Amino acid sequence: MRKKIIAGNWKMNKTPSEAVALCAELKDLVVNDEVDVVYCVPAIDIVPVVEAVKGTNVMVGAEDMSFEDKGAFTGQISAAMLKDAGVKFVIVGHSERREYNHETNEDINKKVLKAIENGLTPIMCCGESLTQREQGITLDWIRQQVKVGLQGVSAAEAAEIVIAYEPIWAIGTGVTATTEQAEEVCKAIRECIADIYDTDTAEKIRIQYGGSMNASNAAELLAQADIDGGLVGGAALKADFGKIVNYK
Ligand code: PGA
Repeated sequence: MRKKIIAGNWKMNKTPSEAVALCAELKDLVVNDEVDVVYCVPAIDIVPVVEAVKGTNVMVGAEDMSFEDKGAFTGQISAAMLKDAGVKFVIVGHSERREYNHETNEDINKKVLKAIENGLTPIMCCGESLTQREQGITLDWIRQQVKVGLQGVSAAEAAEIVIAYEPIWAIGTGVTATTEQAEEVCKAIRECIADIYDTDTAEKIRIQYGGSMNASNAAELLAQADIDGGLVGGAALKADFGKIVNYK
């Protein structure tokens, strides 16, 4: 049985003091022993949020990281820095970073490897545009993202990572993929993992759905056989996030 994982992606929202206030607001609402709860927060909020969630069930994630170890990379943050600050997870290859920061599957692969090397769990994002969906190339596109993203990752390592399927047309739009659409792709991702590795690894890896997940659609999405959690943007910034964590 895979444990569900519900992660908030706060994106570029919440100053450090607002972040601490949100942690306090959500504290009692996000308690659920059956679910891993993660807040992926802006870099500057990491230290205060790690402090704010101490002694609770919440784990902290970053929204991105460098694939370099250290050195002359102004503005970047390394995996070792995140690890030392108490971070457990890191989102890698979010579609907004692919688009605005021109990240390629190869860059994302380097980040996945670097995260694993430093004891962080990558949440590797993949997802198609509306045009790609209309062209009927969704599954090919996703398989390519997953295969390149996982180059050089062993089966044992792959079993521990998280993949987030986020159709770009559903992110921040209020248009959620239907449960059938979401399950179809998450199932295809699991089959892809079985192809690359084996069925045991495929059964272990956790696959999230993301894209306008909210308190009213979470239960149905999370009831699908291959959807093991959610990566939640807008709804992670309010009390509703507690309803998603306690979706049953
Ligand atoms: P959304 O964002 O829930 O606001 O659609 C999800 C994401 O981008 O991870």
